Amino acid sequence: MAKIFNLFLTCAGGLEEVCCRELASLKITGCRPAIGGVHFTGDLKTVYRVNLYSRVGIRLLVKIAKYHCSSEDELYNHALKIPWELYLTNRMTFAIHGFVSNSKIRHSKYAALKLKDALADAMRRKYGARPNVDTEHPDVQFNLHLNNNIANLYMDSSGTPLSRRGYRTVLHKASLNEALAAGLLYLTGWDGRSALYDPLCGSGTFPIEAALMAADQAPGLLRSRFGFMGWKHFNRELWESLRTEAQQRIDHSRIPAIFGSDARGDNITLAKRNAKAAGLSGIINWSVKDIRAFRPGGDTGLIICNPPYGERLGDPEQLKTLYRLVGDIFKQHCAGHSAFIFTGNPELGKAVGLRTSAKIPLRNGNIDCRLLKYDLYQGTKKKFPATEKPGDSEPQSQDDQIN
Ligand SMILES: C[S@@+](CC[C@H](N)C(=O)[O-])C[C@H]1O[C@@H](n2cnc3c(N)ncnc32)[C@H](O)[C@@H]1O
Repeated sequence: MAKIFNLFLTCAGGLEEVCCRELASLKITGCRPAIGGVHFTGDLKTVYRVNLYSRVGIRLLVKIAKYHCSSEDELYNHALKIPWELYLTNRMTFAIHGFVSNSKIRHSKYAALKLKDALADAMRRKYGARPNVDTEHPDVQFNLHLNNNIANLYMDSSGTPLSRRGYRTVLHKASLNEALAAGLLYLTGWDGRSALYDPLCGSGTFPIEAALMAADQAPGLLRSRFGFMGWKHFNRELWESLRTEAQQRIDHSRIPAIFGSDARGDNITLAKRNAKAAGLSGIINWSVKDIRAFRPGGDTGLIICNPPYGERLGDPEQLKTLYRLVGDIFKQHCAGHSAFIFTGNPELGKAVGLRTSAKIPLRNGNIDCRLLKYDLYQGTKKKFPATEKPGDSEPQSQDDQIN
């Protein structure tokens, strides 16, 4: 019988339900959303598959212990009894990250240090030697989550976050996290067949993630390293067979017309380079274009963009002008399309001046964000008069109620 693990897949706040739906599409049932991630169970094959296929997940954690712990002695003494030899030998390396909240032990680093001492002492007592710490490239990464005096101890099966697909050649200073971009695409309900446009594409994250989705190209195929590869009993044969299966599913002929444009030529150069690294050379239509010149080709399709929102780019007045401009272009030239704006500044969202049909709250790191939806019906002409704030007269849609 295959061993069944308790698993926790972390994701951006607001994407937990999306994460469960994605797991269901991988035929993983019994997913329970929590804050910032989802709980489920599965065997080693599930661990490998989720790392390979999840577009929305960030880290897949495998639980190895849970215990009450309201003092450092309790933390240490209980940890001495954990059968560490199941997880590593004394010739392997490890690291421990601590995360502490609402607990008598208050310092994350201190909690991690105590746990490290217990692991080293337990192994030394049994084998006369202890594994070494390597904080850069450990064979096994343990994560200690101490919340309300309950310690949950996990092994991080992902290592580098799954959001780092491996196609980014250089980091654009305002690029969206790839897993968040994929989650936002899922939230739009895009069918993977209609045309998709990002007129403020920067380094190209939305178009690239959309193309990977449409082609059924597993995001993990581009990575050469995952945390579980350093574990004792890494099953290379199983992993290679899953990779081969994933390779066979890729079908670039299913990618619809996808367009990315940006006012800056250097961004488009970067987007092209990233697309090439993702194995998507020549598939996405890139162009250097100010949004003033943006016109979607067909009558229907999805427009999604992430204008700057001040955290990292731009001064507030200029940003308002840009958001207003985006609203004008949507209204005048994009009728028939569904449009989405992802922003970390709700005030700027109001400057768009179009009626939203949904406002979905999300977290990007520690920033409160919104995915704003606009249905651009044929013949939509109404913009809000200057005195009326968008939202004042809006009917409450279901999505609004989750705000
Ligand atoms: C926050 S970044 C988008 C980041 C992108 N989602 C990514 O993941 O790389 C906003 C982008 O809008 C572009 N931009 C700003 N004003 C523009 C305009 N008037 N027309 C077209 N692009 C513009 C910037 O060059 C920048 O790349």
